[in-house]
Amino acid sequence: MKRAEIILTDERKPQHLAIILDGNGRWAKKRNLPRLMGHRAGLRKLEDMVRLVKREGIRYFSVYAFSTENWNRPIMEVTGLMSLFRYYIRRKVDEIKAEGARIRFCGRKDRLPEDLLEQMKWAEDYTADQKILDFIICINYGGRAEILDAVNSLIQSGHQGQVTEEDLRKHFYLPDVPDPDLIIRTSGELRLSNFWLWESAYSEYYFTNIHWPDFNGDELRKALDDYAGRERRYGGLKK
Ligand code: FPP
Repeated sequence: MKRAEIILTDERKPQHLAIILDGNGRWAKKRNLPRLMGHRAGLRKLEDMVRLVKREGIRYFSVYAFSTENWNRPIMEVTGLMSLFRYYIRRKVDEIKAEGARIRFCGRKDRLPEDLLEQMKWAEDYTADQKILDFIICINYGGRAEILDAVNSLIQSGHQGQVTEEDLRKHFYLPDVPDPDLIIRTSGELRLSNFWLWESAYSEYYFTNIHWPDFNGDELRKALDDYAGRERRYGGLKK
């Protein structure tokens, strides 16, 4: 049996796969295109990836689409990205729903344009009954912001006494979503950049030099095969 045909058993397959979609700008630069064309190509790749991830039987798929730090980019790029998010929701949500996927957004709601927030809420409600895949789009997300927001929300809830991890987790943006098992980062950077900061405590990492718009099914398979061969000990000893 060829390696690509091996079907991963549940234990060796990530339940939650997260991807840091990096390298759209460099992909565009290599082709003498504006950066926004790179983001567009990245979005097309993401559409394929949702289907591939679903086919792999992964239950949660999250992507880092816009960080709390990305507001520092030139205004043209920020507004271009906001328009891409609008386009995606308007045009692609039916396809996502037909795949049995539920869309969820994760991040701070401040600073995002009002009409986009309305669209995001609509897309979440419209796909809420889908159960095969949770497709989580992190927009205006930062791990530090999430921890701070959780702490403040916990204080506001009137919590008394010692705070446990479970107490805090209840105040995260998506408390029911399991921690990412595997985090892929494309385009050669070896860092987390404030993604799933708390939740990644025991995540496995997979880094590739490929720019996000060039990522494909074979690359995904490589990452999943690599993950399947790892031993996760969570601070314990070898089984
Ligand atoms: C990082 O590449 C990528 C981003 C900040 C944006 C990613 C967004 C998309 C792929 C569109 C997603 C759309 C939806 C609806 C989820 P970079 O610009 O930092 O690349 P560089 O490091 O090469 O400059």
